[in-house]
Amino acid sequence: MFNQKSLISGIGNLSNIKKYYDDWSVKYDVTLNNWNYQAPKKSARILKQRILSHPKNILDLACGTGLFGHELNKIYKNSNIYGSDISYQCIKIAKEKNIYKNLKKLDFETKYDYKIRFDLISLIGAMTYCRNFNKLFSIINYYLNKKGFFIFSHRIDLWKTQDFDNILKKLSNNFKINYISTPCNYLPLNNDFKDKIKIRIVLLQKC
Ligand SMILES: C[S@@+](CC[C@H](N)C(=O)[O-])C[C@H]1O[C@@H](n2cnc3c(N)ncnc32)[C@H](O)[C@@H]1O
Repeated sequence: MFNQKSLISGIGNLSNIKKYYDDWSVKYDVTLNNWNYQAPKKSARILKQRILSHPKNILDLACGTGLFGHELNKIYKNSNIYGSDISYQCIKIAKEKNIYKNLKKLDFETKYDYKIRFDLISLIGAMTYCRNFNKLFSIINYYLNKKGFFIFSHRIDLWKTQDFDNILKKLSNNFKINYISTPCNYLPLNNDFKDKIKIRIVLLQKC
C-alpha cells in the first residue's frame, strides 16, 4: 500500500515515483475522488474562460490515469490529445478511457521527437516532481507552437521554498503570464493536505 505522507514530503527518485504511481494506479481515481481533487476541473474552467480558439493538438504531460485528459476531452471534443507519464500502469488505465490519440511512457524532462507541435500543453498535479525547471521549460518551449499555451498547477508551499516567482520571471523572454489563480484547495478531504496545502493554477503563453 502506498504511503500517503510521502505525497507531501517527497517520494524519492524517478524510479521510486514510478513504482509509487504504478502501485497506486488502480485505486488512484477513487482515492482522488474521495479527497475531492478539483485541479482538473478548475484548470479546464480556466482554459475555457481564457483560450478562445480550440487547440488542435494538446499534450497532457504526467497524464496519470487521465483525469485531466477527461476534462480536456469534454471541452475540446475535436482536439487530438496526446499524453505521457512515467507510470506504465497509470498509462494502461488512461488508455482504457479512449481519450488520448497517443500515450507514451516518458519522463517529462526527456525531449521526445513528436512530429508535430502543440497548441496546448498541461502538467496538472505534477510540478512537484520537476527536478530541473530550466530543462522542463525548455522542452515545453520546444514542443509548443508560437502563441501556444502551457497550463500547470503548483503547490504554494513549494512555490515559496523554490522561489518560483523568480523562476517565472526568468522565463519572460519565452513566455508571458496569461493567468495565475488565487490559492485553491488541492486535496481538501485528505487529512494531511486539507486547507493547509494549496495550489495555484498558472496559464502561460509562448511569445
Ligand atoms: C498526482 S498525479 C497527477 C496525474 C494527472 N495529471 C491528474 O491530474 O490526475 C502525478 C503524476 O505524475 C507522474 N510523474 C511524476 N514524475 C514524472 C516525470 N518525471 N515524468 C512523467 N510523469 C511523472 C506520476 O506517474 C503521476 O501519474
